[in-house]
Amino acid sequence: MTIPQHIAIIMDGNGRWAKQRGLPRTAGHKKGAETLKKILKYAREKGVSVVTLFAFSSENWNRPKEEVDTLMDLFRSYLKNDVQALIKQGIRISFIGNRQKFASDIKEQMDKIEAETKNLTAFHVVLALSYGARDDIVLAVQKITERVQQGILLPADITGKMISDSLSTAGIVEPDLVIRTSGEERISNFLLWELAYAELYFTPVYWPDFNELEFDKALASYQKRQRRFGGLDPVK
Ligand code: IPE
Ligand code: IPE
Ligand code: MG
Repeated sequence: MTIPQHIAIIMDGNGRWAKQRGLPRTAGHKKGAETLKKILKYAREKGVSVVTLFAFSSENWNRPKEEVDTLMDLFRSYLKNDVQALIKQGIRISFIGNRQKFASDIKEQMDKIEAETKNLTAFHVVLALSYGARDDIVLAVQKITERVQQGILLPADITGKMISDSLSTAGIVEPDLVIRTSGEERISNFLLWELAYAELYFTPVYWPDFNELEFDKALASYQKRQRRFGGLDPVK
């Protein structure tokens, strides 16, 4: 059975999960962090090589301050505890998104973790934090047009590969499968360029309730897809 090499997950529904139980939204985020731990372990066991997680979007900064503050504390604790456990297992950790917006302690942690794990190969976890695909594309365009302005590059010589290589996901294989929990069926500014030919899987399950069984359902759905990439024959 084909296992996707790269799975990207939009971990959505934490707030509604909590509301359903009469709990504050932040309780959903805490439970969501536990789900993440479980799913990363399972994805690795299944033979997936890369998992990208949408944990905080560039638009999520617009949420009420209390919620943003709690999420920041959760990231701090995640980077300090869970991520260290992943590093001990030889797992590479990368971050995509606008790091400048984070408090300096978080930013420093991110830089340190990334540098420390860049040569680890057991598995690759990509955390999308303060990430927005449009911002990422804008930055890529700025990088490329600088070279045009310097006279090193002609506009007509700009290629798709150059754009891919200028995004924060440069060097990472494109996602084969996207999973979005919580019943929302949209991309919400996640990896717009990279998802051109990804298979999409939506489930009504809220992220805190997502588990190994639900992950298997997503894999089973993926295995039934025929990926043609615009051609006529399914590509394995
Ligand atoms: C996803 O859950 C986590 C973040 C966006 C930080 P939400 O917080 O969006 O939960 P819902 O969608 O409101 O239920
Ligand atoms: C997308 O969820 C971002 C993350 C899961 C981190 P949102 O809850 O922010 O997206 P919308 O607002 O429903 O589109
Ligand atoms: Mg949401």
